[in-house]
Amino acid sequence: MSEKMWQGRFEQPTDSLVEEFTSSIHFDRRLYRYDIQGSIAHCRMLAECGILTHEEASQIVQGLGEILREIDRGELALDATQEDIHMAVEQRLMQKIGEVGGKLHTARSRNDQIALDTRLFMRDVVLECRRLLLETVRLLTELAEKNLHVIMPGFTHLQHAQPVLLAHHLMAYVEMFLRDEERLAQCYDRINVLPLGSAALAGTTFPIDMEMTARALGFPRITRNSMDAVSDRDYLIEFCAASAMLMMHISRFAEELVLWSTEEFAFVDISDAFCTGSSIMPQKKNPDVPELMRGKTARVYGNLMALLTLVKSLPLTYNRDLQEDKEPAFDTADTVRLTLAVLNKMLPELRFQGDRMEAAAAKGYALATEVADYLVRKGVPFRKAHHVVGQLVHHCEKLGKDFTDCTVEELKKFHKALDADLFGVLTLQSAVQRRMSHGGTSPQRVREAIGAVRIETTQR
Ligand code: ARG
Repeated sequence: MSEKMWQGRFEQPTDSLVEEFTSSIHFDRRLYRYDIQGSIAHCRMLAECGILTHEEASQIVQGLGEILREIDRGELALDATQEDIHMAVEQRLMQKIGEVGGKLHTARSRNDQIALDTRLFMRDVVLECRRLLLETVRLLTELAEKNLHVIMPGFTHLQHAQPVLLAHHLMAYVEMFLRDEERLAQCYDRINVLPLGSAALAGTTFPIDMEMTARALGFPRITRNSMDAVSDRDYLIEFCAASAMLMMHISRFAEELVLWSTEEFAFVDISDAFCTGSSIMPQKKNPDVPELMRGKTARVYGNLMALLTLVKSLPLTYNRDLQEDKEPAFDTADTVRLTLAVLNKMLPELRFQGDRMEAAAAKGYALATEVADYLVRKGVPFRKAHHVVGQLVHHCEKLGKDFTDCTVEELKKFHKALDADLFGVLTLQSAVQRRMSHGGTSPQRVREAIGAVRIETTQR
């Protein structure tokens, strides 16, 4: 058991179980790079403001640089006796440069230090997630373009509704992912604020310059209230909320891949590299990757709930409870990055079965709306047309045939306006081509949407 840096007022050493209970080094050690980066900026600022001498500061900065290299190379043992990464780095600094190392912690506290470290960490995470997401958008848009003329059944209630372009379906996900990217970009702006200098909670008596530290670390803003700064975890919760929504979108896409790769649908073939076999059934090729995308959504939701619950009712300002913020945030960051990376690798490998999709699209009287719209164009009120076509569907269903199997005389029994030219609109191609309204599924509109997305993403 090593001597604690805060040991001064204590008579007894920490109980070993308490040491294990309170230590966070096994998970916050991954912040070491940010912790050292923040300390270097802080130290230089202290020297510029005349709080440390330049000689002291350069000793400290040099020591910190060496510690960074030691940890990079795995040469520094980080164990539970060190409580957390901040203590570990500082302890090592004192070992290396002696008493002067103790001057680094002037005008700061671990409370503003951890807030800084997690903000620095989160900045990188969010940038990486945004980059991956824009790649997802690019790949989906490419898939849409490649499959621009494939027609598939559009579903509502998972029942055939109206034919749509596969490209339109894929571009629907692009819209979701673009919103996710936008949410992350907004989240980034609120992460990107420097809290260091708030000290324990009340600010500091030393004449520090937070703006200087902010410039050194690339923060465009500094926090305005020291009490808020050390107890705020909104930026982690927001990231977890944006991630939950993103995973929700991925899970919907994943669910469709699982469904579409069944024998029954056979709309898509997922490449072997993204499937796994069964230990007992030799014929099996299971869509485990999309299944795990669905599955991992659960832990990301759980992490969001954990953080919301952690901060709920927490009195100002810093409370040790807040140490529990890191694992859910780290796990979310890891899960989202890995899921997006796998998704991006899998997307170009998807083989859509256009023939199967088109064959399915014609089934289930998916062109019934075309008949109703045809009648409307001949002056029949829509409600009336709807009713007429409903009866026609019932009739065809009873006889086990399609609209196009009916004779004109047969059609006329349902409405006198039904004529031979009806057959001209009863094709899948016509059904999609006529849906020219803004945001509709006509190839022209979808092509425009693809173009618009391309322009928009180059500006992000
Ligand atoms: N390991 C702590 C955390 O993650 C750092 C801050 C500790 N501050 C304190 N006063 N105990 O929250």
